Amino acid sequence: MEEKRESLRLSLADSLVTEQETGLWQEALGAARERLNSGREEFTGWVRLPLEYDRAELEALLAAAERIRRQCQVLVVIGIGGSYLGARAGLEMLSHSFRRELFPRDGEDWPVVYFAGHNISGTYHRELLELIEEKEVCLCVISKSGVTAEPAIAFALLKEALCRKYGAAEAGERIYAITDRERGVLRQEADREGYVSFVVPDDIGGRYSVLTPVGLLPMAAAGLDVKAMLEGAASALALEEDCGRYAAARNALFRRGKCIEVFESYEPKLAYFAEWLKQLFGESEGKEEKGIFPASLQFSTDLHSMGQFLQEGNPVFFETVLCVEEPERDLKVPESAGGLFAGKSLNTVNRAALEGVAAAHKAAGRPIVRIEIPALTPYYFGQMVHFFETSCALSAYLMGVDPFNQPGVEQYKKEMRAQLAE
Ligand code: PA5
Repeated sequence: MEEKRESLRLSLADSLVTEQETGLWQEALGAARERLNSGREEFTGWVRLPLEYDRAELEALLAAAERIRRQCQVLVVIGIGGSYLGARAGLEMLSHSFRRELFPRDGEDWPVVYFAGHNISGTYHRELLELIEEKEVCLCVISKSGVTAEPAIAFALLKEALCRKYGAAEAGERIYAITDRERGVLRQEADREGYVSFVVPDDIGGRYSVLTPVGLLPMAAAGLDVKAMLEGAASALALEEDCGRYAAARNALFRRGKCIEVFESYEPKLAYFAEWLKQLFGESEGKEEKGIFPASLQFSTDLHSMGQFLQEGNPVFFETVLCVEEPERDLKVPESAGGLFAGKSLNTVNRAALEGVAAAHKAAGRPIVRIEIPALTPYYFGQMVHFFETSCALSAYLMGVDPFNQPGVEQYKKEMRAQLAE
């Protein structure tokens, strides 16, 4: 069935920010949009990427994904931060909630994706190595700098395991690298060993790189439709007005002391999308002692732990609710459940929870931003990624910080190296 294509919709109706207030940001927003679209600012390569991406490179990437599919049952994706969260967000949003290996897409055997190198836990990596021992395995190592500690360690471990299993030559055939065009030890190794490799564009930073090979290769290798993602992202260019309204509302709320934004969703498949949002906003705005602290909650689960705080606690936050209009699947509550639920669809009950919570929080004076997402599909994943990237960059410009650097992350990496050297 042909996918119906609309746009996600932003509603500020319950945000407590008036049109007049967002209007006060119009001039600053105009300047911010001009900056973002000028093509002159560093690290803004992602803005027009969905229109201008290299078609030949995408075909090479799809060929690599197909090769991975034929080679392995398990693809281990190694990376951290911007070299990890986007692909994970897409995979979690668009895959079966449970054992993906039992539910291959379209009757094809796509590999199961596991992640590594996003922590330094010995237990995690030992268990991963045990899990994949009996499987056919490929690795996709992703690091823009090529020198980040966590993925470097995990890559060394997994590469050794692969070499023991297949021998060095075949292991090399099973390793895919995504890194800088020229710099870093990973680029040197990829060229020396002849790994199939792709480039993280110079003008795109980690958290804005989801729709480059960084996110696209792992997602394509798991059977997701990455062309539809790029189409969705291209369609988001028409939503720049709404991105500006959202950015202005965030800044207006921040000025009123709302220094925490809680991203909320009622679909568990959006949990990692919220993790990516936290990185996007946290790293882009959290500098020079400014920024809105991004948090996330999964409902209705967290209503039973954090609901009390949201309703009656310290009102330092505003809520941004990600609402899915047409969830993928549904079922009916059996009559035996009795009461108000009997015979209703689960999605109807879930929506009632959303509307009920919104009404209660509104009555308590909590500002609520709503983003209605038509459905969880690759197309809307791409649209959401570009929508939030644009909103975030505009918001950071309004706040007076550089959305594209992360001096604090660099600082931690430096200090960690110093500790190890001691
Ligand atoms: O957004 C960022 O820049 C960071 O989160 C990086 O993506 C993260 O530190 C990983 O860096 P690299 O890709 O160089 O290994």
